[in-house]
Amino acid sequence: MKLEMALAIALVLAVASWTQDFFPKEAHNLNWGKFSGFWYIIAIATDTKGFLPARDKRKLGASVVKVQRTGQLRVVIAFSRPQGCQSREVILKKDRKKPVFRNPLSTGASPAVKGVKGFHVLSTDYTHGLVYLRLGRAGNNYKSLLLLNRQNISSFLSLREFLDTCHTLQLTKQAAILPKDDSCAHTILP
Ligand SMILES: *[C@@H]1O[C@H](CO)[C@@H](O)[C@H](O)[C@H]1NC(C)=O
Repeated sequence: MKLEMALAIALVLAVASWTQDFFPKEAHNLNWGKFSGFWYIIAIATDTKGFLPARDKRKLGASVVKVQRTGQLRVVIAFSRPQGCQSREVILKKDRKKPVFRNPLSTGASPAVKGVKGFHVLSTDYTHGLVYLRLGRAGNNYKSLLLLNRQNISSFLSLREFLDTCHTLQLTKQAAILPKDDSCAHTILP
């Protein structure tokens, strides 16, 4: 009895510390050329306070991703915020070793330009994708998980993967599947 109890506690502790240390793994062998182009943002989960507008003001977001010169990625994101539809553009630099693009200005003393620090593709089949965004300025760090799709719909399986990853990243408090209103997304159609 006592042994079972100890085992149960050990298991709980092991799972807890695993969750604490968890950092999402990026997709391997990602073809950035194939990943480029226009994406709808179908769902979002974030720990940034006040990022999502009220329920009746939510709309599909969008992102246009373009590999520019070797090692540079241009990312435009349009999203319906409490202040209305906003778009921002950021140029990110590829990490030497990992399939990750970072904002070169976000390290050291200078604050991150436009608040995007990193863009990590966790998984994709090039028709849908799961992206982990690191946001913030100076010492403030926020994280967001985006479910992308080439079309304004999403499959049950991709939503399931999104929700599972939300749990792992402890991002379930502000998670939303966005209503299919494309008026903000289409402001950045290429
Ligand atoms: C979704 O996209 C299709 C074609 O791309 C379009 O016909 C349809 O109106 C869109 N649905 C909504 C709700 O915007």
